[in-house]
Amino acid sequence: MNTILIRDGLLVESDRSWKSDLLIEGEKIVRIAPRIGLEEVPADTEVVEADGLCVMPGLIDAHTHYHLVSRGTVTADSFVEGSKLAAFGGVTTVIDFADHDKTRTLADSAKARIEAMSKGMAIDFALHQGVYGMHGGIEAELQDLVKLGVTTIKIFTTYKNVGYLIEIDGLRELFSACKRCNIMVSAHCEDDTLIEETNANHTGGHTPADHAVLRPAEAEYRAIKYLGTLAGEVGMPLYVVHLSSARGLDAVRELRGAGIQVLVETTPHYLLLDASRLAGPEGPLYVMTPPLRTEQDNRILQDALVAKEFQVVATDHCSFTREQKLASDDCRTIFPGIPGTEEMLPLIHTFAVASSRLSLSQLVRLLSTTPAKAFGLYPRKGSLQVGSDADIVLFDPECMWTLDASSIHSAAGYTPYEGFKVAGKAIMTYLRGRLVMGDDVYLGKPGEGKFLVAGTPSAYL
Ligand code: URP
Ligand code: ZN
Ligand code: ZN
Repeated sequence: MNTILIRDGLLVESDRSWKSDLLIEGEKIVRIAPRIGLEEVPADTEVVEADGLCVMPGLIDAHTHYHLVSRGTVTADSFVEGSKLAAFGGVTTVIDFADHDKTRTLADSAKARIEAMSKGMAIDFALHQGVYGMHGGIEAELQDLVKLGVTTIKIFTTYKNVGYLIEIDGLRELFSACKRCNIMVSAHCEDDTLIEETNANHTGGHTPADHAVLRPAEAEYRAIKYLGTLAGEVGMPLYVVHLSSARGLDAVRELRGAGIQVLVETTPHYLLLDASRLAGPEGPLYVMTPPLRTEQDNRILQDALVAKEFQVVATDHCSFTREQKLASDDCRTIFPGIPGTEEMLPLIHTFAVASSRLSLSQLVRLLSTTPAKAFGLYPRKGSLQVGSDADIVLFDPECMWTLDASSIHSAAGYTPYEGFKVAGKAIMTYLRGRLVMGDDVYLGKPGEGKFLVAGTPSAYL
């Protein structure tokens, strides 16, 4: 069995950081102590000197779309490529999505995705199951889903054109069934009726910049308010994915003020990029849904992050190549989505920790511990504890570098953060005790990523 001793690093947990040694045996963390002597470990132990480095639990990107087949195409990053770029970003677990194949049960939809991912993934993964429509007998299907280890569903209040929109009729029944099964409902929140009205009244064109006009922040407000109110009536939590706007945050605040439990995820792009990016010939590269908002929205969301109003930062990694993105300059047909998993850690570190607005522990909480808890993966993931999986990132907080197309590994061939100067880089990433990325060399092996059977989401515990 391989034994690795990581010495003298700054261990960072979600509630504290301290200098310590850490011992890995096989796939698990087996000991944490101020000093572990060489005489205490097997002779063939590999010793990693981590003085000056942070030792963090592997990050969890709780919102990815690797190999998404949609709109007649497939995204740029397959499971193989997604795993690689994740390892470079210190991410050892992703929570991806299974489409709802209405010709199969929910569990069978999930099983098909698990089978496909198991072949290509080199890091661990869990699943959110899409539910794109209600039907009789769904509760039995939800129970089977839980038995399989999928304890979150994902609904969309928009995207009628691609068949994702869930009708309002039956939502109460769906929420109640999820509550009885201890399933977390996560939701893409944009009110489709308002979007349709806005489109019908629109007299302008359909440039990338119009994307932001045609999907107003008010639509996010209304959908969050509607779903959150319903969750409150049913007496259950709601997880809002990729919150994009100050107006959406208003809805969260109002719901929380009424005692409703709302977990909120935001993404680096809604914190750091604004709609001015949509202008010009490269505008299509920045089209995603919901759209980028204003600089003021960025600032309000940053403040909310610092004020602990968000529980999770994830990326909504949904990459298309430059060629795919630039194939259209009509916002109705540009493929929506951008890459982000690899950039998440340096971006959040730079803009929150290096600027002293957040602590390293808060970063670990947002990018690892809370997603693990929220989606039933804790303490196997999201923690440096004896008995946890030895998913470990050695992070150099002092490394200054520039994000650009040549420094990141997405098959998209571009980064939306081109030219961003960042502080901090993952220099070694271990997955269950095996080095998958070290000193800029990728060592992951397709097929070695495991499907994680999720337990009960923490909001139900
Ligand atoms: O534009 C985006 N975000 N594409 C991915 C699908 C989604 O809405 O999350
Ligand atoms: Zn979405
Ligand atoms: Zn998404």
